[in-house]
This record gives sequence, structure tokens and C-alpha cells, in this order.
Amino acid sequence: MGKGRQAAEEPEGRAAKRQRLDAERRRLPAWSAREKLVELVRQNQVLIVIGETGSGKTTQIPRFLYDAGLAKGGLVACTQPRRVAAVTVAQRVAEEMGTELGAGKVGYSIRFDDRTSPNTRIKYMTDGMLLREALVDPLLSRYKVVVLDEAHERTVSTDVLFGLLKNVCRQRRDDFRLVVMSATLDAAAFTRYFDGAQAAYVQGRQFPVEVMYTAAPEDSYLDAAIAAALQVHCDEGPGDILVFLTGQDEIESCARLITERAAALPPPEVANGAARDGGEDEEDEQAAGRPRELLVLPIYAALPPEQQLKVFQPAPPGTRKVILATNIAETSITIAGVRYVIDTGFVKSRSYSPRLGADCLQVAPVSQAQARQRSGRAGREAPGKAFRLYTEASFRQLPPATVPEIQRTNLASTVLQLKALGIHDVLGFDFMDPPPRPALLRSLELLLALGALDSQGNLTKPTGGWLARLPVEPMYGRVLLASGQMGCSEEALAVVAMVSTDVVFHQPREKREEAAEAHARFRSREGDHLMLLAVFRAYSGVTRKGGERGAWCRSHFVNPRAMRKAIDIHTQLKEHLQALGIPLRSCGEDSLPLRRALVAGLFPHAAKRQLDGSYKVIATGQAVAIHPSSVLAGKKPECIVFNELVRTTKQYARDATVIEASWLPELAPAYFARQHANAGQQQPQQAQPQHANGLQHRQPQQRPQQHAQQNGR
Ligand code: CDP
Ligand code: MG
Repeated sequence: MGKGRQAAEEPEGRAAKRQRLDAERRRLPAWSAREKLVELVRQNQVLIVIGETGSGKTTQIPRFLYDAGLAKGGLVACTQPRRVAAVTVAQRVAEEMGTELGAGKVGYSIRFDDRTSPNTRIKYMTDGMLLREALVDPLLSRYKVVVLDEAHERTVSTDVLFGLLKNVCRQRRDDFRLVVMSATLDAAAFTRYFDGAQAAYVQGRQFPVEVMYTAAPEDSYLDAAIAAALQVHCDEGPGDILVFLTGQDEIESCARLITERAAALPPPEVANGAARDGGEDEEDEQAAGRPRELLVLPIYAALPPEQQLKVFQPAPPGTRKVILATNIAETSITIAGVRYVIDTGFVKSRSYSPRLGADCLQVAPVSQAQARQRSGRAGREAPGKAFRLYTEASFRQLPPATVPEIQRTNLASTVLQLKALGIHDVLGFDFMDPPPRPALLRSLELLLALGALDSQGNLTKPTGGWLARLPVEPMYGRVLLASGQMGCSEEALAVVAMVSTDVVFHQPREKREEAAEAHARFRSREGDHLMLLAVFRAYSGVTRKGGERGAWCRSHFVNPRAMRKAIDIHTQLKEHLQALGIPLRSCGEDSLPLRRALVAGLFPHAAKRQLDGSYKVIATGQAVAIHPSSVLAGKKPECIVFNELVRTTKQYARDATVIEASWLPELAPAYFARQHANAGQQQPQQAQPQHANGLQHRQPQQRPQQHAQQNGR
């Protein structure tokens, strides 16, 4: 790649665009602080940077440091908790610098998608990716500067990176700089952790935001959000609306309802409906004090990138944007033009329950800090209004700050990575806020059961080392390793790729039956993993040429992006397996080996049918129901393994596959008591009263005791 190529051949349009972008960046608060920031980084090995969301921290600061020569002989890394942010920001910075994303100076790296080259100097990446790189290169010697961005989010990966980078700082005194950036004003926790590190404040621009509460609690925050959006549209002056919802499904159904109801609204300031037939010009709209049209734009992680970028485009004249977002829009991305915020007060978060032994995706109330961040989004360009769809009393009862993720999620893969990094004493690791002991112990137990650790708590060779290197959760990694021995690695690769991609099945409301019919072709009596395998096989069988795969996806109501991603993941995982010397073999149409391989990794998520037809997770005794979206819903097989628990009105097991209870003690002997399994085998179709609870979970005998004593530092 010739370095001067773009500058020389840049067409007029692009030059003009760069000029505009240049002017925009000079107006950002971070710009005025740039000399001071660069100087502080020169003088301090660790710098904490605090600045309001939208002040230009993410897009500008890595570049300032690069331009100032602080990365000479290496790279600047800037970590993001969210994939969407890593990609959109890298795109933006590449545009600003007039360089080609990926091939030029700016690149990004997220799991299963690496857009970097030997030319890359500024690399946006998810925090998880930097952690993976540390496995191979513990001192991160390629990087001269690491910027840990969105530190206030306190994701598990960022929290672990804090500890690792603190050590890198000690080892590379003169040769490494760390910048920790946060949007919350409280720098104290960070400065304390980094031994009194210097903090710098980027002066933000924040206009007053009037905060409104509901008088009484709402029955449904969704209905309330739709009503509020329409009311703001009818009653308030110009300015876009940002609505915080919890997830893709919610966002899509809200988008539909708002669009429908907005279309039915009478036009502004026109008493008789006749004028709606069109004809009136924009002056009428202005006179009415509000835009006439409402343009609904969703933004969430699984949305295709072209559509994600739409939210950044200004609304056409006479139009008001209403952006329906997950908490992506809380601090990670900033959308210009927003004057009104509608806060449902909820967020979907992943949390790990040591009692359940599983991660749950759960809709939970936000913290006060999050509610303030959300409201603040209304006051970035002018005074704004925030409508909180809960009472002031409920606000006061919210937790002041979000609990760091490390204190509430599954730590198995984190613990495994620490072990692979040579950090033996994970209970004694220098965490900013240590995770609860039971969660750490549980992860150690799981890793022991998966064969990744030995009874001394050491990483096993080769299994533990392999599981640490595979870019999937250890349970799925175990499935892949087992599949090699069971002669079904081709199928296991496909299944793991499919469960790692985005939502596969597309079910538009208008064509629900047609979609269900198309999906029915892939149904398997043996469960959802087999169904996903069937989709993967059918898709792979379609030629890449002539857009045929796209057409196939449309006619089968399958999400094409999810499939392209699955193919990508499949390719990468396959390379990993080949590198590990695992034989690639197919079990053909016989599903048995595959289901056994699934058990070899997912056994902690095995559930057994009870007398009353309900299910219990064998390891924990937790009651679960098969998720209504599963092909097994209503089928009542005796025993299943499942991918994850989802909690809505009750605990649901999502993506389930039929297994034989007798496989459990055979494939995970340390985890299950053999005698119960034998009983299960004799009465495969009928649970006996004395075994109503199914198999009993036995504590692995070789609990890594040693670590239990090493807590506290
Ligand atoms: O990191 P921080 O929240 O301080 O700000 P930023 O993400 O660097 O954003 C600075 C400005 O760039 C904001 O005004 C964004 O609206 C704009 N931006 C954009 O227009 N498009 C992007 N893809 C990213 C940022
Ligand atoms: Mg940022």
C-alpha cells in the first residue's frame, strides 16, 4: 500500500468532506485540551482522562498521541467495551484522517473480524481482543500507548486489563504509556487503583436538561415509551428524540408501533384532516412549531453496519428523528441533534448467578448514574428535556452506580485466561473491585470439570491451554475438543459458529406464517443445535456466486448477515482446530456423536424433566422451562442440554438439544454421581418418584482448595 496514494488521488468530494470533518473536530472540547493532554501523557506513565460523553475523547485522543510521536516504533491501542463502538469510531477516525480503514493507519480488531494491516498505527479494538493478545504477548510489546476507553463501564475485560496493564507499566517504565478514559466525573477509584495517578479533565459542554418523572408507576414501560415519543413529537419544538430500550426485539416492535401511530396523527396545527392529503409546504410545518414527519431509526449491536450508520445522518428538513437505542447510546456513541431523551429506566444485562451456575440475560433497572448519563444526552447541543418513565421515588431507590460486571457474570473464561497468563492465584489478583469469592470458586470448579485445570488449580496441558486459546467460551471449546475424538468436528464447528453468530431466524410480523413454514424445513426433533446445523449445511451448499446466497436467505427468512458471520467464525475456528491438530471429521446424518460432543461441554447446562413435566437444571436444582422459541417447546424430552438461561417471566433454557441422561456421568464423571445415572438409564422415558430430581449434582471432589485459602491480599 503506497502511503501517499490517497493524498495524491483524492477526489474533490473527499477533500471537501475532510475539510468539513476537520472543522468539526476543531470544535470539540478535546481539541482545545490537546496540547495539555499530550504533555501530561509525556510526563506521566498513567493518565486518567475524564470528559463528558461527546467531547471527543475516543475519536481524538488516540490520534493526538500518535501525531505527537508518542507511539514511535509501535502502535496506539484504544479499547472499547462494545464492538459497534470499535467499528464506528475506527471508521470515523479513518475518514477524519483520510486514510483507508484497515489498509491505512487506522484499523480495528473485534472478535472474528480483524481489519488491520502492517500499516496500522491506531488500532481500535474491543477490550476482549486486547486481553487475548496479552495471552500471546503478556507485555503487549507492540503497543507504545494503550488507551483503556469507557473505563466507567467496568466490563470484565477492562477490569482484568487494569491489573495486567498495571504490571506492564512496572515492567516497561520508559517505554509504555497508559491512558484510562472515563465519562463519569468520579476519577477517585481510578487514581487510587493506579497509585495516585494524575487525572485530567476535558471541559465538556453541557446544557441544562429538564428532568421529568411520571406521577405514578407505569404498567408497561414499552407502551409508556411509545406514548411519550408521540407526545414529545406533537407537543415539543424541533430536536430529535432518543429512546432507551433494552434490546432488539423491543426496539423492533416499538419502531413498528411508533411508525404506525405517527402515520395516523393529524398534521400539526391543522384542525381538519383534509390538509393531510399533502400539498402544504414546509413553512406551515415551521409555523406549527414542530417537524411534521417522524423518522424512526433503531440502533443495536446486531443491526447491519450500513443501518447503524444511518442514525448519524441528520434528519431531512421537516423531519424529526426518533432513535430507539439500547444502552449503546448511553456513553459509547454520540448522536448529534438529540434534544429529548426518553428513559425507560431499564437495561438488559448479563449476570451470572453462582446459585444457578449460569449466565442470565435479564432486564434490570438502571443505576442512578446511568439514568443521569441518559438524561445528559439531551443537553449536548442546546437545553433539552429528559422524560423518565418512572417516579422520582423509584429513582431514589435505584442503586447509585452500576455494579461492575466482574461482580456479576460468569468468570470461567476470565479465570482461564488469567491462568493461561501465568497468574496462578486468581483469588489474589489485583482486581480494582474483586469479584465475589463464590463466583470465582464456581469458575474454578467448572474449569476443573471441563478438564482445563488440574486438582492443584494448574492449567492442564494440552486441554487447558487449548481452551484458553480458542476464542469461544470454555464450555463450547470443550465441545469442539470432544468432537475431535467423537468424529463429528465438522458438525461441532458448524454448531458452535451458529450459536456464536447473531440471531439467525428472521420473523417479520407481516409474514409470520410464511417464515414459520420456511423455518420448519430445518426443524429437528432432536433440538435447536441440530436445526442450526441444518441451516448452516443448507446455506453452505448454495453457491457464493451471483447473489444466490442472499436470495436463499430471503426465501428462507434467514438473516444473511448472521450467516456470513457464521461462515467467518467457522473458518477461523477451523483454523484453530487444525493448528491444534484436531482431526476434521464428519458424522454425516447420524446426530448421536454430535449430541454427545455437546454434552461433553454443556453438561453444566443439563436439565431433566420432572414428574409434573417441568424441568430442573441437574447441577443446581434450578427450575427452568424450555424457551417457546425452541423446536423442543412442548415436546418434553426426558433430558436436555441448553446454551443459556434467559429470564423473562420465568427462567427459560434457550437453544436446547435432546440427550440421554446416561451420557452425563459417562462424559463428565467428576461432575455427576454414577449411580443416579444408571437409574435414569433403566427408565429412560419415565422419571421415577425416587429420582424425581433426576441426577444429583456432586461437588467435584478435587475442589481447588488451595486457592480458597489464598483470598485477601
Ligand atoms: O468519546 P467521546 O464520547 O468523548 O466523544 P467521541 O466519541 O470522540 O465523539 C466526538 C464527536 O464525533 C461527537 O460529536 C460524535 O457525534 C462524532 N462522531 C460521529 O459523528 N460519528 C461517529 N461514528 C463517531 C463520532
Ligand atoms: Mg467515547
